[in-house]
This record gives sequence, C-alpha cells and structure tokens, in this order.
Amino acid sequence: MAEHVEIFEVGPRDGLQNEKRPIPVAEKVALVDCLSGAGFRRIECASFVSPKWVPQMAGSAEVLAGIHRAPGVRYAALTPNLRGFQDAVAAKADEVAIFASASEGFSKANINATIEESIARFEPILAAAAEIGLPVRGYISCVTDCPYDGPTPHQKVAEVAARLFSMGCYEISLGDTIGQATPESITAMLKAVLEEVPAAQLAGHYHDTAGRALVNIDASLELGLRVFDAAVGGLGGCPYAPGAEGNVATERVAAHLAGKGYETGLDLAVIERAVALAQAMRVGEGA
Ligand code: HMG
Ligand code: MG
Repeated sequence: MAEHVEIFEVGPRDGLQNEKRPIPVAEKVALVDCLSGAGFRRIECASFVSPKWVPQMAGSAEVLAGIHRAPGVRYAALTPNLRGFQDAVAAKADEVAIFASASEGFSKANINATIEESIARFEPILAAAAEIGLPVRGYISCVTDCPYDGPTPHQKVAEVAARLFSMGCYEISLGDTIGQATPESITAMLKAVLEEVPAAQLAGHYHDTAGRALVNIDASLELGLRVFDAAVGGLGGCPYAPGAEGNVATERVAAHLAGKGYETGLDLAVIERAVALAQAMRVGEGA
C-alpha cells in the first residue's frame, strides 16, 4: 500500500490574507466548501488577527459560521493572542494556530513583538486550549531566510521549535516564508530541528517564490516529514514579508506526491474546481 502524505490546505487563510481585492465572505465560504469535498483533513480558513493589520481576514467568524462542516474535516484558525483565541473558540474553530518567527526582524514586522514576547503571549493560549482540549498548531516563519535579517541560524529554528513543542503544540509547521530555501538549507535546518522535535510532529510550509518548493518537499520527505502545507491555486503569501508571494500550489504538490508514489487521499477533480474558484478570486471576477 502506498505511503500516506497529508496536504494541509491553507489557501483560504494564508492565500486570501494577501489578496489585494477584499474577498466577500460568500466567496470564501464557497471556496472552503469546495475544498471540504476534496478529502483534506485540515483546512485553515480563518485568522483572528487585528483587522488593522490584515483587513483581508476580517469576517473570519462569518466564514466559520457560513461553511458547511464536512465530517472528518478540521477547520483551523490563526490566533496571535488570547483575544484572537477566544474569538476563534466562539466561532467554533476545530483547532487554532499560533505563529512565531525564527528571526527577530520578521517577528517584529509581523506581530509587533520580539520572539520572546510572542512566546509569552502564546502561553495563555496554550493553557486555555489545554483546558478545553483544543489542538494548537505552531508555525515558525523564516526558517531559512528572513526578508529583514538575512539567513536564519538553524539553531534558532530548533530552539523556537523546541519551545513551541514543549508548550503543547501538537505539530510545528516550518515556514520558508519568502521562498528562498534550497534543499541544502532545508536539510541543514531540519537536521537541527529533528534533534528537538520528531519528524511525525513536523510539517513543511514552503513557498514557491523561487520555484524550489517541490525540491524542498523532496528533501523533507527524505528526512521523514509527511505533512506539507499548500494553498490551492498557489494563492497568497504574507503581507509582512516582502516578496513572499507564492504559497506552493496544492495541485502541484498533490501531483508531485502522486508521481513519487505517495497517496494523499485527495480527489484531484474537486481540487481542480477549487483552483478555478481561487483563480477567479485572484483576477477579481468573483466566484
Ligand atoms: P499591536 O498593534 O502590537 O497590538 O498588534 P495592540 O494590542 O495594540 O492591538 C492593535 C489593535 O488591534 C487594537 O485595536 C487591538 O484592540 C486590536 P485599536 O485599539 O487600535 O482599535 N487587536 C485585535 N483585533 C482583533 N483580533 C485580535 C486583536 N488583537 C489586538 N486578536 C497584533 C499586535 C498581534 C494584534 C498584530 O500585530 C496582528 O494582528 N498581527 C497579525 C499579522 C498577520 O496576521 N500576519 C500574517 C499571518 S503570519 C503568516 O502568514 C506566516 C505563516 O503563514 C507561515 C509562513 O508562511 O511563514 C503563518
Ligand atoms: Mg505561507
């Protein structure tokens, strides 16, 4: 039997947060509902951040209220602080994600906090989530390169990963936020992180800005990672990372993994329909 690799769909959040046109809630709901039929087990579709910082994610509660919740799918939300966590719980997110950085420059630009301050902010989220049994995922951005600080020391990524893991994050997603990683830098970074966190609790979140996301996934598969984040239609990036366009496209990752003999459990025909919706959103034609 073919080995399973999971694609964690992040398009409705990590993708749409970076689109220039304000996307109506109904279009977001239609995209998530389409994706729900594709076989994903986790779809990130909301972000309870400051609307002053990321106006595109305002309306996340309406999105979570409007979607049809498919059995077996967990709908995830980003939460930068306790207030965001409480809003995510009220909106019935099935899991939340905290997001740290391995570089100080990006941490400050993205969440207006040092790495240490951000971890202090995440602690009450982890405590509150543990009380109600809600899973928390941990993101680390800029795991190889930072748009402000240059190359990221691998040891720093390992240190932040160890902190988030020991605080209770069930999985750590490692972000090549500006898509400049190479198989060599990914391998070196992962070797450092694997000293602290097992491969089964790691995910690769790679951007395709320089066209290397798939080879970086290959390097990660070699080291035992079996979860990869991707955005349908290659939507988006991060508004606080200049040049971060290009989350790797779900359809490319799915085809690539199938070509290597892995099984993703995804229905490629449904994904194609979601790609069409995503592309229509991108050019502003509506869905
Ligand atoms: P701040 O300005 O330092 O803090 O922002 P603040 O406490 O002064 O809050 C500013 C305003 O936001 C206040 O409103 C707060 O009430 C409000 P005002 O008094 O000015 O009217 N506020 C909130 N509103 C709604 N929900 C909240 C919330 N918290 C405060 N939860 C803060 C600090 C963290 C809030 C801000 O920096 C922020 O929201 N940053 C989010 C940036 C973001 O979402 N970036 C994209 C996601 S990360 C990413 O994409 C990378 C990733 O995909 C992985 C990868 O690709 O590498 C994960
Ligand atoms: Mg991303």
